[in-house]
Amino acid sequence: MFAVMGKTLLDHATGYRTEAPYPIRFHRELNPRRMVLALAAQGLSAPSCDQPYTYMELGFGQGVSLVMLAAANPHAQFYGVDLMPEHVAHARGLAEAAGLSNLHVRQLTFAELEQHDWPVFDFIVAHGVWSWVAAPVRDNIRRFIDARLKPRGLLYLSYNTRSGWASMEPIRAIMKRVFDETSGALEERVTAAMARVHGIENAKGLFFRANPTVPVRLKQMESEGAAYLAHEFLNAEWKIYDFADVADDWGSLGLVFAASANLQDNAVGLTIRDEARALYNAAGSISERETLKDYLLNKQFRRDIFVRDPVVLDEGGQREIQLQTRFMALMSVAQLLEAKLTTEIMTVTFTTPLHQALVGALAIGPQTIGQLQADPTLTSLNTNAAFGTLFLLCAMKALAPAAPDVLADAAVETTERLNAEIARRVGTPGAIPARALALIGGGIAA
Ligand SMILES: C[S@@+](CC[C@H](N)C(=O)[O-])C[C@H]1O[C@@H](n2cnc3c(N)ncnc32)[C@H](O)[C@@H]1O
Repeated sequence: MFAVMGKTLLDHATGYRTEAPYPIRFHRELNPRRMVLALAAQGLSAPSCDQPYTYMELGFGQGVSLVMLAAANPHAQFYGVDLMPEHVAHARGLAEAAGLSNLHVRQLTFAELEQHDWPVFDFIVAHGVWSWVAAPVRDNIRRFIDARLKPRGLLYLSYNTRSGWASMEPIRAIMKRVFDETSGALEERVTAAMARVHGIENAKGLFFRANPTVPVRLKQMESEGAAYLAHEFLNAEWKIYDFADVADDWGSLGLVFAASANLQDNAVGLTIRDEARALYNAAGSISERETLKDYLLNKQFRRDIFVRDPVVLDEGGQREIQLQTRFMALMSVAQLLEAKLTTEIMTVTFTTPLHQALVGALAIGPQTIGQLQADPTLTSLNTNAAFGTLFLLCAMKALAPAAPDVLADAAVETTERLNAEIARRVGTPGAIPARALALIGGGIAA
C-alpha cells in the first residue's frame, strides 16, 4: 500500500514529505460551533455561526473535516489550501458527490497564498501544520493570517508541545537519520528506522530505562501505520514548542490566546491537582500559566484558539450567549445518564437530579438553556450552572452545540448526499471515520 518508489520524497520548495498522501482523518475540534462554545465559556465574544461566515483551512489533508463543515453549513463559505494534488482531488471528489457549491479548495503552497485573491476570514484553522513546516513557511502563514483574519476572528492552531515530546526528540533524530539513509519504499524505510530504535531497546539501552514512557509511545505510533509515521515523525521539519513561544509570536500580531479547542483542557479544576493549582493560579500571565499547565499535565499536543483583538463580554452579554447556545444530545438518554468524564485526577459523573432533568429534556430534541428553563421540571435551572454542565457534556462528546433548525434544514440535502458517499465507501481503503450531521453544523466521528 505504501509502495511509492520513484515518487518525489520531499517537496523541495516546502520541505514537506509528499511520497504518501496523509491518512483520512476527521477532527471535530475544527467545527466553528465548538470553538465559539469554548470562547463563550471564557466570557469572550466570537463570530456568529448562525450568520454567513468565511472559513479557511490551511493544509487540509484529505479534506474530510472541511467537506463535512461545508456540507453542514450551506450559509457559510469554506476555503482550503493544500500542497498535495492527491489531497485536493480527494476533497473535490467528496464535494462533488455532496453537490457542494460553498467549498473552494486550491492546490497551492503557503508561499503562493499571497499571489491569490482571498476574502477576509472569520475563522482560519491549521491542524497538524505548525510543527511540521520550516521557519520561512511559518512566515508565509503568519503573513497570510495577519492580512486575512478579521478583527475578532479566530485562529485555530495545533502543534506539538515540548513537555510531552521531550523524551522522544532523540528517538526521532535516530529514526530520521536511518529513514533518510535507507532506500526503497516508504514502508521499508519506516521499518528500518523503527528497527534501529527497537535494537537499542532490545539491547537494554539505558536510554530506555531512563525514559520508560518511550517504548509505550513507540508502540502507539507504530500502530498508526507507515504513512502517518512519515508525516508525523519523519518529516524534514519537526518542531516542538512551549506555549509561551507560540503565544509571543501571535501576540505581536494582536492575536491573544482565548481557549483550547480540546474543551476538557479548559476545565483546569478537573485536571490540575489542588497543590499544583496554587502554582498555576500564581502565574503572572496567560503565557506563563498555559506553559505551566502543559508541564503540570505533560501535554504532547495543543489545540489553541487565538482571537484577534478579543472582546470580553460583560455579565449581561455572557448570560445572553449562555441562554442562546443550543445543545443537542449525541447519545441515548441511558448513555447520557451513565456518561463519565475521566481526567488525570478524577472521574466526574453526572448523577444529580439537575443532570437527570437536563438529560430528560434534551432527549426531546436540541434546545437552548432559555428553552430548557421553560420546562416545568427545570424552572429553577441556574443559567451559569446549566451552561457549565452542558459544556462538560460537550467536552465528553455526549452533547454538541447545535445549529438553529432553519440552518440545519437547509443542510439536509448536502449532508445526506455526503453521507451516501461515505456509506458507499465503508469497508474500502477510502473509508471515512465520520458522518455529517446537519443539526450540529459538522461531522461526528463514526
Ligand atoms: C500533517 S498534515 C495535516 C492534514 C489535516 N489538517 C489533518 O489534520 O487531517 C499537514 C498538511 O499540510 C499540507 N502542507 C504542508 N506543507 C505545506 C505547504 N508548504 N503548503 C501547503 N500545504 C502544505 C500537507 O500536504 C498536509 O496535507
